[in-house]
Amino acid sequence: MQTFKTAKKDPGVIAAHVFGLIKAELELVEIEFGRNVDSNIQVVGYLSDYLRKSGGKRIRPALLLLSNRAAGGNSKASNVIGLATVMEMLHTATLVHDDIIDNADTRRNMPSVNARFGNQASVLMGDWLYMSAFEISLGERNLRILDILTSLTRRMTEGELIQLTAIGRTDLDEDTYFDILRRKTAYLFSACCEIGALLAGAEENEIEAFRNYGLDLGIAFQLADDYLDFTSRKDVLGKASGADLLEGKLTLPLITLVSRNPEALSVIERIMIDGEYKDGNRETLNRMLSETGILEETRKRAYEFAESAKKNLAILEETEYRVALEDIPTFMIDRKK
Ligand code: IPE
Ligand code: IPE
Ligand code: MG
Ligand code: MG
Repeated sequence: MQTFKTAKKDPGVIAAHVFGLIKAELELVEIEFGRNVDSNIQVVGYLSDYLRKSGGKRIRPALLLLSNRAAGGNSKASNVIGLATVMEMLHTATLVHDDIIDNADTRRNMPSVNARFGNQASVLMGDWLYMSAFEISLGERNLRILDILTSLTRRMTEGELIQLTAIGRTDLDEDTYFDILRRKTAYLFSACCEIGALLAGAEENEIEAFRNYGLDLGIAFQLADDYLDFTSRKDVLGKASGADLLEGKLTLPLITLVSRNPEALSVIERIMIDGEYKDGNRETLNRMLSETGILEETRKRAYEFAESAKKNLAILEETEYRVALEDIPTFMIDRKK
């Protein structure tokens, strides 16, 4: 029996292999993205070019393409490339709006659109990207896909709104945290995998497996993002680190810390009120987190979701694409940016 199992453990090696499998398709996505955001309205063309060229990991189109292949599809087909591009456009729109909401000044190692061109232009550019993505997906004449995309976009907006109401709350509970995280991040991952399988003409039980895989994978991804906010640096991440708390957001590591060590509360509140780290309080907090092993626990939680994600793939035929999807969670959790 042919086996595709490999001993790739290093996240960089995994990423090179996984993205290498769909290199040609990802190049087509770049071309399609460029074509879709090309506009004879000068300001639109300029802003979308700024965004497209800023890069990004392209994880969402990669997931759609790999899921499509793992479900037996032709990932070079124009509708597959088209939808993979739509997912990256939707993701880009959420980032543009998210950076306004979070008042973020850096994204992908460049000034964020809001920092560079102002909030007004950014709101409109985000709207333009959303609508362009929907216009393109309408071209598919596939109501099921439209259904997924519209409810996904609604849920993402709900996630950001719920998060907004939780700003500054130091009593945020885990359930609300996971609810926000599912909505703002995981449903998009889920939709990428589901649509990839749908376009491959997969059976219903397989489509469901891809949807569930993507959901747990998305949760693991956002847990890693929240964890990296504590452990990484701006020059590596390409965006500010230590930013969540300054934005008034409690994520899993701090939710856990507050529940175990009420003394941490005064440090956390001070930082939120100041809106900056002072007098070594960032170091104090990080020390509390590492002494209690909470950061390691968060990583473990991410791994649990990754394991649960992978289990869904067991019903698929073992191909190198399925193995790639099984390897992705390790890359996502152990990534540096
Ligand atoms: C950032 O997503 C937003 C989150 C859901 C955490 P990515 O980390 O995939 O951003 P890019 O596209 O690679 O810049
Ligand atoms: C990601 O949340 C939410 C999105 C859907 C854009 P974050 O606010 O943590 O994302 P980053 O850290 O700014 O990329
Ligand atoms: Mg943000
Ligand atoms: Mg973040």
